[in-house]
Amino acid sequence: MMKFGTKAVHAGVEPDPTTGAIMTPIYQTSTYVQAAPGDHKGYEYSRTGNPTRNALENALAELENGKYGACFGSGLAATDCIMKMLKPGDEVISTNDLYGGSYRLFTKIYEDFGIKFHFVPMANAATVREKVNENTKLIWVETPTNPMMNIIDIEEMAAVAKEAGALLCVDNTFATPALQQPLDLGADIIMHSVTKYLGGHSDVVMGALVTKDDAIAEKMYFIQNSSGAVCGPMDSFLVLRGLKTLSIRIKQHCENGKAVANFLKDHPKVDKVYWPGFESHTNHAVAKKQMSGFGGMVSFTLKENTVEAATKVLSGTHLFALAESLGGVESLIGHPATMTHAAIPKQEREKTGVVDSLIRLSIGIEDAEDLLEDLKKALD
Ligand SMILES: Cc1ncc(COP(=O)(O)O)c(C=O)c1O
Repeated sequence: MMKFGTKAVHAGVEPDPTTGAIMTPIYQTSTYVQAAPGDHKGYEYSRTGNPTRNALENALAELENGKYGACFGSGLAATDCIMKMLKPGDEVISTNDLYGGSYRLFTKIYEDFGIKFHFVPMANAATVREKVNENTKLIWVETPTNPMMNIIDIEEMAAVAKEAGALLCVDNTFATPALQQPLDLGADIIMHSVTKYLGGHSDVVMGALVTKDDAIAEKMYFIQNSSGAVCGPMDSFLVLRGLKTLSIRIKQHCENGKAVANFLKDHPKVDKVYWPGFESHTNHAVAKKQMSGFGGMVSFTLKENTVEAATKVLSGTHLFALAESLGGVESLIGHPATMTHAAIPKQEREKTGVVDSLIRLSIGIEDAEDLLEDLKKALD
């Protein structure tokens, strides 16, 4: 069994069969010539299959200890594929603290197709069990959550899903397989916004699903081909390239995340700091159990809890660029209430802690001292 850093470099990739090229070529083609009808080399049309995309799908399946991977045009397109496995009348229990775009897809699109969603805090299983009934078909877990950095016990949720006869899907975007392997903990499907750490360089929008279940895989590939929300070969190549450094990037993200979280904790203008590495974090013990590091995402609030005070900090950094998204090598700063989570009504978002002064940091792989200096100046 290879260690993760080795797998990140080699997973899914074979020398190109025609030339021996060590890097998977970008098969920039929509179709493939057949010698006679049905007599082809395994590829017919690039929506259905493309060698560059397939190499990436295999790589992701291997990194997540799964059997099957499928890549999509975005994380939301991957989530959309899972929703299409459901039928009207089915019910989904989702964490109430989740990426705003997932919430929008669930409530503004799939509710209209007759799927019922329950959004609940998932810090303990009892709250989730209360919502289970015979229609429950899916439990949707994001851990760590975006942006509150809540931690949900995947093993516990897998037990609830099993009792309910429902599937458990884990959005593993924040942790990545470098820190957390949900399939090993009992999840049925993993969803990724590949856009983030897997791509790692803020140059691609992509999503992926991974499973080891044959029946789920069959549905997943059927929907991928039928709905057609696939990614292109150039983007697949960029992510294959990004994956090779996933392991070392994540180590640096974790190290810098720790330095920034501790700096903020002691800052007089900062109120709360959300980072699962703190012993005082509600589910620190669960994070320690299921993750091998605490990641590079940190959120915090200001003692002056206003949009104006937050805006001053958000416009005052130089290294931390004010932008949506996360998980790239460069540090980003964002304001969930008006940016990533603007799709969630104020009353709803405030219930989960997304208050006006909440600031989210995606801490890059720069030198920590420079990042601390940048934050210090912006907070002064
Ligand atoms: C945790 C999480 N899940 C899903 C998504 C959606 O991914 P995409 O933007 O690639 O569609 C995001 C994007 O920000 C995210 O942060």
